[in-house]
Amino acid sequence: MLIDSIPEQIADLPLWERHQVALSIIRLDQTHPHISGNKWFKLQPALRDAKRKPGRPLLSFGGPYSNHLHALAYAGYQQGIPTLGVIRGEPVFPLNPTLQDAERWGMRLHFVTREAYARRSDPEWIECLRAELGDFQMVPEGGSSPAAVQACADIWSYLSPQASLPDYLACALGTGATAAGLITACPATTQVLVVPALKVSAETAGQMLSSHWTTSAYPSVSRYQVFSGDLPYARISPMLAALWYQLSTCYGIDLDPVYTLRVYYRLSQLLLQGGFAPGSRVALLHTGGLQGLRGCRAQIEQRAPAFSGPLPL
Ligand SMILES: Cc1ncc(COP(=O)(O)O)c(C=O)c1O
Repeated sequence: MLIDSIPEQIADLPLWERHQVALSIIRLDQTHPHISGNKWFKLQPALRDAKRKPGRPLLSFGGPYSNHLHALAYAGYQQGIPTLGVIRGEPVFPLNPTLQDAERWGMRLHFVTREAYARRSDPEWIECLRAELGDFQMVPEGGSSPAAVQACADIWSYLSPQASLPDYLACALGTGATAAGLITACPATTQVLVVPALKVSAETAGQMLSSHWTTSAYPSVSRYQVFSGDLPYARISPMLAALWYQLSTCYGIDLDPVYTLRVYYRLSQLLLQGGFAPGSRVALLHTGGLQGLRGCRAQIEQRAPAFSGPLPL
């Protein structure tokens, strides 16, 4: 990690000031320019293993804009570990900036159909991959192994000063590994708010989260709240585009449209519904993903003007 403690950005937004609730952004994305946000923590166990048992490349899975594969490619490049990325869907040329970076950093890209990608946890299919690509050490999609969950618990130790931890720490859910780790080590004075980046019920999101815990180590339900995901994964509606644009250009808050922007939107809805008492402190964990903006900035700029309704700012 390039920094000793994670910077906190105060969000001076009129809506939050009116409700007398303090919002800040915990800039975990600033841990490293390329191994950014939760990726820094989630990848450490796989990188340590690869160094202990060198010789086989690290193979992992992701979509064509995957923050995880982008970070893995850079980490491999930096540490001399060969990497292989299994990409969902047919290749589109020229490659998008995420995949161009990955390739430049030496990641071997292997594109598979969506149907094949759906079999990424099937041991039989993994054996076929081995036969085709040679032996490898597998890193689950999103880097979400049990060891990665433990590594994410360590995020708390970088939030300083500990004495001024927020009342609520909000985190995006993709696979749920980051939130699961945070919850297991959550201090008694803070509650973790978990916001899915995909369209799922709160019940399904809760199951995704708890799949990372062993039954003997279930954290108390008072330590967290899981919400439903109401917006389809990675789709940037005109409202989200306008919200992203205003946050960035008027308030200097740069979120990624796939994960943390959705967390902000959910928090603002909670605020408007009276979910936070005046005087409370809410922090949004910025888990990175800003590299992905390069692939969707044009879309944001095109869609934002189509939204003319009020924005929660
Ligand atoms: C920027 C960003 N934030 C949050 C997440 C969600 O993390 P998790 O899969 O651990 O739930 C991801 C997932 O890869 C991500 O790229």
